[in-house]
Amino acid sequence: MKYLDFKNNDHMPILGLGTWKSEPGEVYYAVRQAIKIGYRHIDCAPTYGNEAEIGRALSDAIRDGDVTRKDLWITSKLANTNHRMQDVKPALEQTLRDLMLDYLDLYLIHWPVAMNPDKPDEFLSQEEVPLHETWTAMEKCLNIGLVHHIGVSNFNIEKLKEVTNGAQYKPELNQVEMHPFLPQKSLMDYCHANLIHMTAYSPLGSMDRSEEMKSQDEPILIEQPVIIDVAKKHQASPAQILISWSVHRNIAVIPKSTNETRMKANFEAMSISLDAEDMDKIDSLEGTYRFLNGEMWTGENSPYETSDLWEEKR
Ligand code: A2P
Repeated sequence: MKYLDFKNNDHMPILGLGTWKSEPGEVYYAVRQAIKIGYRHIDCAPTYGNEAEIGRALSDAIRDGDVTRKDLWITSKLANTNHRMQDVKPALEQTLRDLMLDYLDLYLIHWPVAMNPDKPDEFLSQEEVPLHETWTAMEKCLNIGLVHHIGVSNFNIEKLKEVTNGAQYKPELNQVEMHPFLPQKSLMDYCHANLIHMTAYSPLGSMDRSEEMKSQDEPILIEQPVIIDVAKKHQASPAQILISWSVHRNIAVIPKSTNETRMKANFEAMSISLDAEDMDKIDSLEGTYRFLNGEMWTGENSPYETSDLWEEKR
């Protein structure tokens, strides 16, 4: 396994298991199997609606001696409804109870968007709940040891600067959608220049999103001829090539699967070695598509705009 190194000498396995869209009823088995296969990094969030089931899997895996807590890297995220300063620690404590853990390895602000905890359909503006206040509350959680690292998700360069300004700690990681259609080169350059690690979500193209979240003419990443060509060359599957592409860019990657065979294949992608020619070929797909367009946070009743989320207009 390759790792991303943190300043305090902690190491995050570069490949993790994604759990967004992993159904309750399936995710217990998926996490138990993943740990048996060798996964040590599990990416979670309370908004995925499955943390309690993941918690039972982690607890049973530790009880049965499959793994120790120290060997695991568990990430979770602060929901939009808990951005007010007083809500951050209680939200984290609920996640810890659900995941049956004493601490998280990494806690991320899930989106740069705040919502009303009492009326979850109602937005709170950036003036009402400034991001730097949420960040200060995240820093407090770090200082008391409930989490070992803090970071963000879905942050563009401007938002990264906003939380970093005057902060005690910089975000150590930014998790964003990233795949060959959306390689996020300028954001990646900024993050790496500022020693911020990155994690790629939806690395396989997130085919199992609900139909309402998909547009009609959505391209299918794993069916792109360029990816299939490189896969044939390496006697690998397209999904394995997409995972390996991220690893070669030093970006953590969290493919979601609840299927044992596919989880195993995804894990084995770690042994694929892409060359410069493969990477150039894959680069030709750049700019084609963003799967999560952020519309759910930028509609008519929202004070947030697309520019609060992404650099590009797409
Ligand atoms: P499943 O859970 O049935 O394996 P993303 O990580 O981009 O969100 O993509 C998740 C989707 O990709 C899910 O539909 C998942 O299905 C599917 N998937 C995961 N691994 C593979 C693989 N190796 N080959 C094909 N599809 C995969």
